[in-house]
Amino acid sequence: MSADLSDLIKAGLRDVPDFPRPGVVFKDITGLLADAASLRAVVEGIARRYAPGTVDTVLGLEARGFILGAPVALELGAGFVPVRKAGKLPRETYQATYDLEYGSATVEIHTDAVQPGSRVLIVDDVLATGGTGEAAVRLVRQAGGTVVGFSVLIELGFLEGRRRLTDVEPHALAVL
Ligand code: PRP
Repeated sequence: MSADLSDLIKAGLRDVPDFPRPGVVFKDITGLLADAASLRAVVEGIARRYAPGTVDTVLGLEARGFILGAPVALELGAGFVPVRKAGKLPRETYQATYDLEYGSATVEIHTDAVQPGSRVLIVDDVLATGGTGEAAVRLVRQAGGTVVGFSVLIELGFLEGRRRLTDVEPHALAVL
């Protein structure tokens, strides 16, 4: 982890208490995205971890993983696949359901989005409890792909989300 980049991210984040519900401190990354130099630094910070030609597909997790994942895919010469919340994709999908604090959630990809044997990099803004990330890993494997990387801007280390990710070592540009 680059200390400079980690510091840049931490300085650019804004904590929003009690959003989206009481007791949660939301990590707002919109200020980082709005700053041209910071946006470039975080996209390059993710992309530089992967050698040219080692990633076929970048999987971005709705919604902020789309913003980061697409430019990372361009940097790596890879394609981009959105992982969407249930009911948003128009064609046949693979689905993965995961537990939330209260209830469950489901994410999807199109069945033809990840080719068997594809080397897939998963990108998101935040790794919190790991539920979304773990479901994304399952989607890749359902499609016959291989997860070769899992990169996030921020990891909330105290939530220990990485423990839910079996056989995948997530990388965070900044750990809080
Ligand atoms: C947030 C965040 C990650 C996920 C991380 O997305 O952007 O995708 O939660 O949490 P987890 O590790 O506990 O699963 P959110 O569900 O708020 O969706 P949004 O980006 O569409 O607002």
